[in-house]
Amino acid sequence: MSNTQSREPRPDASERIPLKARKVSFSWEDTPLHWVPGDPFATHTINVLHLLLPAGERWFVHVYKQVLPYIRDDRLREDVIGFIGQEAMHAQAHDEVLPHLKEQGLDPTPYTAQVDWLFEKMLGDRTLPPGKARKWWLMERVALIAAIEHYTAFLGNWVLNADELDRRGADPTMLDLLRWHGAEEVEHRSVAFELFMHVDGSYRRRARTWATAFTALVFLWQRGARFFMENDPTLIGGKASFKDFYRGGKKGTLPTTPDMIRSIPRYLSCSYHPSHEGSTAQAVAYLASSPAATAAEVATQAPPAPKGAR
Ligand SMILES: [Fe+2]
Ligand SMILES: [Fe+2]
Repeated sequence: MSNTQSREPRPDASERIPLKARKVSFSWEDTPLHWVPGDPFATHTINVLHLLLPAGERWFVHVYKQVLPYIRDDRLREDVIGFIGQEAMHAQAHDEVLPHLKEQGLDPTPYTAQVDWLFEKMLGDRTLPPGKARKWWLMERVALIAAIEHYTAFLGNWVLNADELDRRGADPTMLDLLRWHGAEEVEHRSVAFELFMHVDGSYRRRARTWATAFTALVFLWQRGARFFMENDPTLIGGKASFKDFYRGGKKGTLPTTPDMIRSIPRYLSCSYHPSHEGSTAQAVAYLASSPAATAAEVATQAPPAPKGAR
């Protein structure tokens, strides 16, 4: 293990809880195209999640299954297995929104085909010989996931507190999807970073992969928002600009630009630990009241139907 940090990041132990996947499901038939009423830009900027997450989170699962043999700590292994279960469910839930968008005239396939290529080919296993090169590429991807998870936790924390979306009458089913997912991102926010620190922990790698992940996220996000705005059948000459994003942050319908900028030095600080960001208590409280998560809980507790029953 190589760890070039002089100060060990300290986790907040009270923020750690055992992780479990909740088998949620959502019905999209009543969700309007502009589910933030009168605000196609905020709707589509957040909709980019449905384009990136199915392929991205399946890729997390694929990479983490390969890293399991390198974990020498039982508690961390348990956390990684819980993380894998949650991310697989997130990918499926966001994937199920895509046919609904297509029915409303927004076919996401041209964009998702590119995202699939990115995660499956460019960030896939590559044909590397077993040994150093293969391990290097695995560690590089583990570090990339830790950097991306800094942002999924940031967004999860944001959406749990985005009261402006409620005030503007945002669709309750979409809000529940986003907040169930956001709450689980906050719940498991330490896992990717702790895994990276356990199997590698090099500060150089952490900084390098942060730069790659941040640049890729900004690029993919603005492209995705532009794709939706330009292809929205109800808009003429729909556009997406950074100015719109900045304004959305000021209104409270999107994360603010200053908050995003402030999140950068936090991740790069030697004392960074994800447990200092967001609140597990808030995430757990949301999950206890989420319509989808509570329905999933009831379904798992229901006794099996007797044989022959319909
Ligand atoms: Fe997720
Ligand atoms: Fe996550």
